[in-house]
Amino acid sequence: MKTVNVAIMGIGTVGGGTYEILKKNRALIKRTQGVDVVVTKILDRSAELIEKRTGNKDIAVTNLDDILSDDKISIVVETMGGVEPAKTFIKKVLLSGKSIVTANKELLSKHWAELEQAAKDGGAGLYFEASCVGGVPVIRTLTESLQGDNVLEIMGIINGTTNYILTKMTEEGMSYGQALKEAQDKGFAEFDPTADVEGFDAVYKLSILSSLGFHTCIPYTEIYREGISKITVNDIESGKELGYTVKLLAIGKKKGNKVEVRVHPTFVPSAHPLAAVRNEFNAVFLKGDCVDDVMLYGRGAGALPTGSAIVSDIIYCAKATERRYTDFENNGKLNAPTEILSDFDSKYYIALSVSDKPGVLSKFTEVLGNYGISLNSVIQKGAADGFAQIIFLTHTTTENAVRNAVDEIGKLKVVKSVDSLIRVI
Ligand code: NDP
Ligand code: HSE
Repeated sequence: MKTVNVAIMGIGTVGGGTYEILKKNRALIKRTQGVDVVVTKILDRSAELIEKRTGNKDIAVTNLDDILSDDKISIVVETMGGVEPAKTFIKKVLLSGKSIVTANKELLSKHWAELEQAAKDGGAGLYFEASCVGGVPVIRTLTESLQGDNVLEIMGIINGTTNYILTKMTEEGMSYGQALKEAQDKGFAEFDPTADVEGFDAVYKLSILSSLGFHTCIPYTEIYREGISKITVNDIESGKELGYTVKLLAIGKKKGNKVEVRVHPTFVPSAHPLAAVRNEFNAVFLKGDCVDDVMLYGRGAGALPTGSAIVSDIIYCAKATERRYTDFENNGKLNAPTEILSDFDSKYYIALSVSDKPGVLSKFTEVLGNYGISLNSVIQKGAADGFAQIIFLTHTTTENAVRNAVDEIGKLKVVKSVDSLIRVI
């Protein structure tokens, strides 16, 4: 029986979940995988937390050197989060020849090239299944199941916190603030929840997934981002009336050398499978040129689901006979000949507050017509104080056409405000 000594850096939600699984399923892992995984050191700011989580104060360390100097430790789990000191710690660990298993999508998407180089230099492995979509094995699916396919599309709900918030607002009429607080209390949200609600977390994950799926470096800075903080109860209610549910979607598409990568709130038809993905659950559609559609679904956040992905990486790493690194030029830059397509096709929901007067509608339809935008439906909602809300649903058009048209419409005297612009699938 091979014994593998592991250190954990950060024993919060995910680190705690990882420890719990390794303890609970130790016998199963020994029996089925032939490896005895033993956590021998834990680094965290709080020795009390380590003792509370493990019942063992003797494995607490406060210094990285205590891990680096322990020759028996071959795998180090990083579940501290954030960029620093995680980056410095991980690089030192990798350069010392120990492998890293991490859930840190922010760090990976921002400094993947540097970390991978350190792994190569140290002859170590860098594993990060837990960084994307919690317990759902999407990275292994992309790298080890769909290697023979050209992945054409990656689309899904890849942030648990925003999905939890939108579900609670839609189904229970809960306020945005209350729903966010619940997501924080349940341990789904990032340390700074702005990363979740403004779409950064989904952008980091889409950068990792689209780079792996499309075999080319897609820097997170190239991904269009819009969060959910501007979504109103009014949008949610209007969407319901029109047969749509609002979701924060991450979308990556590849057509030849052109790649479309974006994260934004999206109206999804209520009968669409993604509309049924509720609370902290995530789902990812993958489309390959041979396999066609694959859908993965599961918990995208939380202690045990994310811990499950970490444990899977520990076992994978313990059993690996060679180190595998990315199969594209992982230099943190957009690799030629890949180009980012910013003028993508979509349908749109546009909500305007306008003067409730005769002839107003024709002014908007004229502008939309000038940009070649064809309307699917128009709805006027309750008038008050001489203003009404007009909602347009367009047929498929282009992002640039809609942006230009809405810009022009917003300058019309009869328009009080452009309230919402939401893409529709
Ligand atoms: P937590 O805040 O719950 O846990 C992090 C732990 O690490 C805390 O105990 C923290 O202590 C400790 N820590 C942070 N910095 C240091 C440091 N410099 N030295 C020693 N200890 C430190 O975070 P999560 O478990 O939620 O997240 C960890 C990582 O996993 C993040 O990268 C996150 O993005 C990722 N992730 C999280 C998921 C989730 O569901 N929560 C799901 C998927 C990925 P202190 O509290 O004192 O700062
Ligand atoms: N904050 C993240 C989320 C954790 O809510 O999805 C999982 O990556």
